[in-house]
Amino acid sequence: MAHDSEHHDTGHLHTGHRNGHGQGQGQGQGQGLGHGHGQGADIDWNEMGPRLEAQAELFTPVYQRAMAWLAQEVTEPGLIVDAGSGPGVVSCLFAEVFPGARVVAVDSTEPLLRHAGARAARLGVADRFDTLAGELPDVLGELEYPADLLWASRSLHHLGDQRAALAAFAGRLAPGGTLALLEGGLPSRFLPRDIGIGRPGLQARLDALQEEWFARMRADLPGSVAEVEDWAALLTSAGLRHARSRSFLLDLPGPASERARSYVADTLSRLRDGFGEALDPEDRATLDRLLDPSDAASVHRRPDVFMLGAYTVHTAVRPV
Ligand SMILES: C[S@@+](CC[C@H](N)C(=O)[O-])C[C@H]1O[C@@H](n2cnc3c(N)ncnc32)[C@H](O)[C@@H]1O
Repeated sequence: MAHDSEHHDTGHLHTGHRNGHGQGQGQGQGQGLGHGHGQGADIDWNEMGPRLEAQAELFTPVYQRAMAWLAQEVTEPGLIVDAGSGPGVVSCLFAEVFPGARVVAVDSTEPLLRHAGARAARLGVADRFDTLAGELPDVLGELEYPADLLWASRSLHHLGDQRAALAAFAGRLAPGGTLALLEGGLPSRFLPRDIGIGRPGLQARLDALQEEWFARMRADLPGSVAEVEDWAALLTSAGLRHARSRSFLLDLPGPASERARSYVADTLSRLRDGFGEALDPEDRATLDRLLDPSDAASVHRRPDVFMLGAYTVHTAVRPV
């Protein structure tokens, strides 16, 4: 989805065709490319696994700062649940940052959970790490214990009825437990406004396409309910208190590392393929140059590539 650079889900831009599979995970998709029907019908989360993993690894400083902030309020959690964990990079970070906690990674994509389990084993935290496969939010009913911290990063917006899902999330918190959502923030930037080729403002135009894609993605989810994205109000209406929000920057100044360049190239490539004909022809030509490794103006070689993003975490607490 488009979020990956994005403020929605930066990590998954996805670009499927209405009739088919072959979607990627970009952040957006062009006109004529539908999101399909059925929940995530054209988002192949398993295929997106490597990208989700690479993104979460690149964004680790953001998660570490968010966890340090959470640790001020959530002291010595016994059980942390990562709802919509994907390949488990963040779940494992939770296990490392909260060494007294048990962590359960929950997701509907079983291969990603296997990946999460293998990662936990590699990091030596497998004895405190479990996975739970199934559809959110109902699968949370299978948790053995209520959560002291339930974290949902860019997963809630893939559920049709976000208000009902939040109520279910809240219902699985222990008294005094914290619900933390990573949703929203700012669209990422990785190039200056004027890059010397094409028309200035390319990323802003891509953002606009991604917003349209996101709206279609939400509308196509099963049981989709339009909701005002006032996260504090939604958390409060789920029976939680002390709603707070804080944003965290991913600030990787240029010249970008190889890892950041490869993330940028992957993101632009998914946008290029996903938006296709919806792109202005000049912007499409610019993207082609940005993605051509033999071109000195490409993101593989140009010196002005950077990575700047802002990610917002919204928290609230279940009354004791
Ligand atoms: C954008 S990824 C986010 C992964 C990770 N939390 C992160 O922030 O990088 C969304 C994840 O939610 C999972 N997901 C989507 N819809 C789901 C559902 N209905 N039930 C359970 N998991 C779901 C997908 O399998 C995917 O791993």
